[in-house]
Amino acid sequence: MMGGTGLAAWASINEPAAPPLPPPACKINMGSPAENCQTDDGTIPLLTPYRMGQLQLSHRVVLAPLTRCRSYGHVPQPHAAIYYSQRATPGGLLIAEATGVSDTAQGYPHAPGVWTQEQVEAWKPIVKAVHDKGAFFFLQIWHVGRVSNTAYQPGGQPPISPTNKKVSGTLLMPSGTESGEYSEPRALETKEIPLIVNDFKMAARNAIAAGFDGIEIHGAHGYLIDQFMKDGVNDRTDQYGGSLENRCRFALEIVDAITEEIGPQRVGIRLSPFGAHSDSPDSNPEGLGVYMAKALSKYNILYAHYIEPRVKSSFVEVESHASLASAQKAFNGTFIVAGGHTRKSGNEVIKTGGADLVVYGRLFLANPDLPKRFQLNAPLNKYIRATFYTQDPVEGYTDYPFLEKMEEETKPSISDEHVKIKEHLKCPFIENGGHANNH
Ligand SMILES: Cc1cc2nc3c(=O)[nH]c(=O)nc-3n(C[C@H](O)[C@H](O)[C@H](O)COP(=O)(O)O)c2cc1C
Repeated sequence: MMGGTGLAAWASINEPAAPPLPPPACKINMGSPAENCQTDDGTIPLLTPYRMGQLQLSHRVVLAPLTRCRSYGHVPQPHAAIYYSQRATPGGLLIAEATGVSDTAQGYPHAPGVWTQEQVEAWKPIVKAVHDKGAFFFLQIWHVGRVSNTAYQPGGQPPISPTNKKVSGTLLMPSGTESGEYSEPRALETKEIPLIVNDFKMAARNAIAAGFDGIEIHGAHGYLIDQFMKDGVNDRTDQYGGSLENRCRFALEIVDAITEEIGPQRVGIRLSPFGAHSDSPDSNPEGLGVYMAKALSKYNILYAHYIEPRVKSSFVEVESHASLASAQKAFNGTFIVAGGHTRKSGNEVIKTGGADLVVYGRLFLANPDLPKRFQLNAPLNKYIRATFYTQDPVEGYTDYPFLEKMEEETKPSISDEHVKIKEHLKCPFIENGGHANNH
């Protein structure tokens, strides 16, 4: 499709700064300044404004990209508008879930895409719902590479990757309820690589056409781009394998193509040099993180989003003395961190200058009003892992209660609006039974 308009979204960026969150007015005990993570002047670091390029953010609590497997047939659904707008605040930043760049990009049940006109049209009202709340919205674009099964691939072909080594363990099959093994991938031929770079470029163009303020390239967690970067996966002998420079070439060609297409100030990238998700370790993670930070700086992109070294995979967090400081030092844009952050650690990292923004995954998933709860130092809802990747349009998705509801001591309940939506959206893909996955 022809995209590249995105004027509405860009205009929204240039609008006057959104007002910060209102001052706390609640019955909840605010605690002492120290408990409350306040600085000497009484501000809470996470809730201070920050200017990211042309975006005036009112606070620094960012929604993580979170795959929720509720885009039936890979097409975003109206319930996503409720989910995202629940988490939107004036001047807040949301990053939408990993979204496929092509029909070979998929490896999760009902993960959305952005490669067809139908998908672009389906994203539009979701983006509008977020913009209507005054928030900024970036789309994370991905290709899973070998983290897939032939059942997800067009014509049942093998998934593509830099290598033909397969991932160990199991994945969730397209039904959303059964598990299967990862399939043996097919190593891309050198001449095919520009076609995948082009898929990323087109997806970025489509995201802007759908109204997003920008895109985040998913270069983390053992998916296609990470598979190229990590020497524990990449066993190529062409110009995309071997040296650090060669292994990062694919990622940087994507950055180059996308910045050229939509402009560098609409581009961010997520990286997990220290992670080993889906058998993707690297022998020199710090070197990789710094090399990418330096290389990215030349493109003048908006942000780099690094996963904390303590996060080894979705289920494994370790104590780590490694640090992102050298990568942060080498990068010239906004530096964002994610992985296991709490209110306390997030405030600490902002206060000490270790990051500009902090991304929250599971806490934001379970607390639609997370910035407000952080402001009030209010108790948090617990996340329910069993519904992370199920397909219900409401349960475990839009039914986590807001603070007001808790204060009223009402039990989490499904609102009338949700019931109505649920009735309309019951789809043939939904089956009974939950399933955890290893995202
Ligand atoms: C349900 C679920 C889905 C996720 N989906 C994505 C995704 O689409 N893209 C991505 O980069 N990371 C994804 N992640 C990782 C999160 O973005 C985040 O980095 C991780 O949860 C650690 O942050 P937290 O400790 O604040 O939850 C997912 C995590 C969870 C729990």
